[in-house]
Amino acid sequence: MSIDASPGSSAFGFEGQPYYENRRLRLYDAVVVNASNRLLWRCPKQRLLDHYNEWITSRHLEVGPGSGYYLDHCRFPAGPAELTLLDLNPDPLHFTAHRLRRHSPRCVQADILEPLPDIVGDGFTSVAFNYVLHCLPEPPGGKQVVFKHLRQVLAPGGVLFGSTVLSQGVKHTVLSRRFNLLYQRQGSFHNQHDSVRRLHRTLDEHFDSHWLEVRGSVALFAARAPGPGTPGRPGPAGATHG
Ligand SMILES: C[S@@+](CC[C@H](N)C(=O)[O-])C[C@H]1O[C@@H](n2cnc3c(N)ncnc32)[C@H](O)[C@@H]1O
Repeated sequence: MSIDASPGSSAFGFEGQPYYENRRLRLYDAVVVNASNRLLWRCPKQRLLDHYNEWITSRHLEVGPGSGYYLDHCRFPAGPAELTLLDLNPDPLHFTAHRLRRHSPRCVQADILEPLPDIVGDGFTSVAFNYVLHCLPEPPGGKQVVFKHLRQVLAPGGVLFGSTVLSQGVKHTVLSRRFNLLYQRQGSFHNQHDSVRRLHRTLDEHFDSHWLEVRGSVALFAARAPGPGTPGRPGPAGATHG
């Protein structure tokens, strides 16, 4: 597997990155996908998988694939999938590209906090941004800039979808609050100022329409770029629309 570009990374993007080395990725499905989702954030992996099944298309960009669990288990629409993986770190790219080798994914190393290099391409009909926002440190202009970068690579009518652990506007238990604070102190989470209200506002600013659902300590979202629609339901019952 080859990686297409090296990052012109901001100093900010690299904070907290040792968490995505190969030895940790081998434990990622057990610890994060299964245990933390259920016990801490109370948004079980099946809900996230349903989110992928609902929105993924066959020309897809996966930002921050981690171990690639959801891509490996979701249902792509019929026909061959054209899959691009983008990550700041090489290990998640290698790990997920190997796991998804049946799709021959293309890999790009880049920092989502920076404008994306041309090599990423554009015209993606879906982009997933799952559990990445809460990891991103806050550059001086705010990390919401990532939505501008993601919007630019979407096809007209394409969908950005994802989820993120928030600090405000979601339900925290004693345990989830403790771990959220611990991860912030360790530098693996940077979601101190992340709230439902801020996420709504940001999606509203960059997209024609969006929906957002809170499940436990997690917000799931999807947002559509202007243009002719691609197939997909507006979202599960209980979602709030923007
Ligand atoms: C918590 S993992 C999420 C993995 C997977 N998407 C999931 O839902 O389980 C965060 C991923 O984002 C990547 N990442 C972190 N900061 C990034 C940045 N600035 N630009 C691009 N990728 C980044 C990490 O290397 C890692 O693969």
